[in-house]
Amino acid sequence: MRNIGVIGAGHVGLVTAACLAKLGHRVTCADNDTEKIENLKKLVMPFYEPGLEELVKEAVSHQLLSFISSLAKLAEESEIIFIAVGTPPTSEGRADLSFVEQVTVELANSLSAMKGRKENAPKNIYRLIVEKSTVPVLTGEWVKRTLELLSPTGLEFDVAANPEFLREGCAIKDFMEPDRIVVGVESERARKIFEEIYSGIKGPILFTDIKSAELIKHASNCFLALKISYANALAQVCERVGADIEKVLEGMGLDKRIGLSFLRAGVGYGGSCLPKDVAAFISLCEEIGYPFALLREVEKINQGQRRLVVKKVRELLWNLKGKQIAIWGLAFKPDTDDVRDSPAIEIINSLTREGAVIKAHDPMAVENMKKVIPNISYCSDPYEAARDAHLVVLLTDWNIYRQLDFEKIKQSMKIPRLIDGRNFLDPEKLRGYGFIYRGIGRK
Ligand SMILES: NC(=O)c1ccc[n+]([C@@H]2O[C@H](COP(=O)([O-])OP(=O)(O)OC[C@H]3O[C@@H](n4cnc5c(N)ncnc54)[C@H](O)[C@@H]3O)[C@@H](O)[C@H]2O)c1
Repeated sequence: MRNIGVIGAGHVGLVTAACLAKLGHRVTCADNDTEKIENLKKLVMPFYEPGLEELVKEAVSHQLLSFISSLAKLAEESEIIFIAVGTPPTSEGRADLSFVEQVTVELANSLSAMKGRKENAPKNIYRLIVEKSTVPVLTGEWVKRTLELLSPTGLEFDVAANPEFLREGCAIKDFMEPDRIVVGVESERARKIFEEIYSGIKGPILFTDIKSAELIKHASNCFLALKISYANALAQVCERVGADIEKVLEGMGLDKRIGLSFLRAGVGYGGSCLPKDVAAFISLCEEIGYPFALLREVEKINQGQRRLVVKKVRELLWNLKGKQIAIWGLAFKPDTDDVRDSPAIEIINSLTREGAVIKAHDPMAVENMKKVIPNISYCSDPYEAARDAHLVVLLTDWNIYRQLDFEKIKQSMKIPRLIDGRNFLDPEKLRGYGFIYRGIGRK
C-alpha cells in the first residue's frame, strides 16, 4: 500500500483516485473547487460516469479514499502525487499549462513550508510527481526545473509522465483493464514505484523516457482523430458516387492492420480531448519547426462535418425560420453527460441563428447543455422533442434512440424526416415507417 495524492477531481483525477484506492492504496484527492470537494465528501459525484459512484462509496467506506481542498496537506501526506488538472486550449489552440504550473509551484511551496514547520521533519523527504494530465512534450522538463528552483533543500524528487488513455463512459474499465500503461521515468526508484502501484492491473506497462511518454499521448489522440477524419472524407466520396460508407468502413476495418475502432463517419469528433489535443499538437509541432500539415487537414475535415449536418438540414427544410427541429443527443458521445466541444453546440447555434426553433433531448447531458445554450427548449423524453417537429436530427448515438417507437414518432411529427448524424439507425426500417432519412455518406 502506498500513500498517493491526486490533484484534480475531474474525470481523470477522480477515476484515477477511486481506481488506485480499489487497488488497495491510500488515496487523497484534492481540488481547488471547494464546492466539488464538499459534495464529494457527501458522496455527490461531480459528473456522470458508469460505476464511479459505487467505487467511490466503497473506497471511502474502507477509508482508502478521502477528499480535501488543501494541497499542502496532500503534499505532506502523499509520497506519490499525480497531477490531473485540466490542460484546456488557449485561444491560439496551444495547451494552457497554467494549472499545471500553479500546482507545481504550490507543491514546492507546501513541501518547503512543511520542512520549515516540522521540527522533527525527516532530513530527506522523497516525492514522485507524476504528470497524469495530457501535456505537450517537454512539460516534464518545466515541472522538474520549477521544483528544482522552488523546493526545499533535502527534497529528493522524481518527475514522471503517466498519460491517461481512459474514455469517458467506460473510464473505470479502461483504467483497470488498459491496453497498456505508459510510464516515462528517469530513475530506477520511480520505475519500481510504478511497478508496485500498478501491480494489481493486468495490462502491460511500457516504460520509456519522459519525453516519449508525453509524445505517445498526443500522437495517439491525433491518430484516432485522423482515423475519424479519414472515414469522414471517404463518406464525402461515397455521397458523390452513391456508395455506402458503412459497408466501405466495415470492409476496411475487418483488415486487422486497420481495425474497426474509431473508423466512424458522422458529425465528427468532439469532447474535451481530441479537438484540444490535435490543436495543441499542431501548435507544438509548429513551434519546433515542423508544421504538421496532415493534422491541419484532420481538423478541417472535422469542422466540415458539423457544417455538413447544417447543410443537410437546409436541403430538407429549405428555410429554417420558424421550423421546429428536434435534436436527439447533446453529449459529445453516449454514456456521458459531458458536452465540452460537443458537435451539438455548433450545430444548434447555427440552426438557431437561421431562425429554427430547437427542442432538445439527451438522457444525461441536458443540465450541462443548459449552461452552454440556455435559450432553447429541453425535453425529458425524445417523443416530446419530436412532437410537431419538421425534422429530427440525431447527434449522439445513445442506445435508447434505437429502441423508440418510430410509428408513434412519425404520427406526432409535422413531416417525418430524420437526419442521422451518427449513421446509427437503420435507414430501411425508418423508410419503411415512411420517414425521409438522411445519413452521412450513405443513402
Ligand atoms: N476527460 C477525459 O476523457 C480525459 C482522458 C484522458 C486524458 N485527459 C486529460 O486529463 C486532464 C484532466 O482532464 P479532465 O477531463 O479530468 O479535466 P476536468 O477539467 O474535468 O478536471 C480538472 C480538475 O482540476 C481541478 N483544478 C484545476 N486547477 C487546480 C488547482 N490549481 N488545484 C487543484 N485542482 C485544480 C479543476 O477544478 C477540475 O476539477 C486533461 O489534461 C485532459 O486532457 C482527459
